[in-house]
Amino acid sequence: MSTLKEDNLFTGPIGQEYDMLRLICPNAAMLARKLGDYVGAWKGAELRTNGLRGFEIGCGTGVSTLALLSGRQDLRLLAIDSSAKMLEQAQSNLAKWESAGRVEFLEADALDTLKTRVPASFDLVASNYAIHNFRNDYRNEVIEQAFRALKPGGLFLTGDRFAIDDVEAHLRLTQSEVRHWFKTFAAMNRYDLLEDWIVHLFSDESPNHIMYFSPTLARMRAVGFEPVRVEFREGVDTLVAAFKPALAQ
Ligand SMILES: C[S@@+](CC[C@H](N)C(=O)[O-])C[C@H]1O[C@@H](n2cnc3c(N)ncnc32)[C@H](O)[C@@H]1O
Repeated sequence: MSTLKEDNLFTGPIGQEYDMLRLICPNAAMLARKLGDYVGAWKGAELRTNGLRGFEIGCGTGVSTLALLSGRQDLRLLAIDSSAKMLEQAQSNLAKWESAGRVEFLEADALDTLKTRVPASFDLVASNYAIHNFRNDYRNEVIEQAFRALKPGGLFLTGDRFAIDDVEAHLRLTQSEVRHWFKTFAAMNRYDLLEDWIVHLFSDESPNHIMYFSPTLARMRAVGFEPVRVEFREGVDTLVAAFKPALAQ
């Protein structure tokens, strides 16, 4: 199952002006930096002698891609995104990294692409602020396919918005976020972008998309990841490191 193209709301104006996200949600870029730092400090990876092969889901304009590549000199990435608008910006922003052979960009659907990979072909599957956009059934399949695509001992690293399990607490947080968006975009007279981000939020918060914290971690464990560690959590913003068990010696 792939996502419907219209399910990806980064194909329109908010993809074209993605830089605006740092004004309404600076934590997205903060989590991207954490992703890079985590991969840089990942000890298990030091056991691998031929460098790391990584797969990035939803690389967007390249913010998280750059953090990952800068975090680890021996990492080569296949970075994919299903929005041509986002990918064009990533290719322009990271042109030097692409010509140096550190990253290959691909316009493609995350699940379709993961499914076609040879099993156990990556040391790292990473994503930042991408998988919360997915429908729940699609995301569940992505988690399963990430496990399949990873080598034993491999790492699935996700920085993202994991909704608070307590529905009331989550609602209060979302409401205060929306107030902040209104203030920010109104000050710039950008009601057009405000409209698009609100429409996008309705999709993220809808029952068939919302990525609750505990069920998502439970899904990672159910497909075989162990341990699954929460390395950072502030409000909804969370960094999760899930490991594919290494083969017994
Ligand atoms: C919020 S952006 C995050 C971009 C980047 N990772 C960052 O940290 O700035 C989410 C990205 O996921 C991409 N995306 C959404 N659904 C996708 C899918 N099914 N397959 C591949 N990419 C997808 C969108 O096009 C968008 O670029």
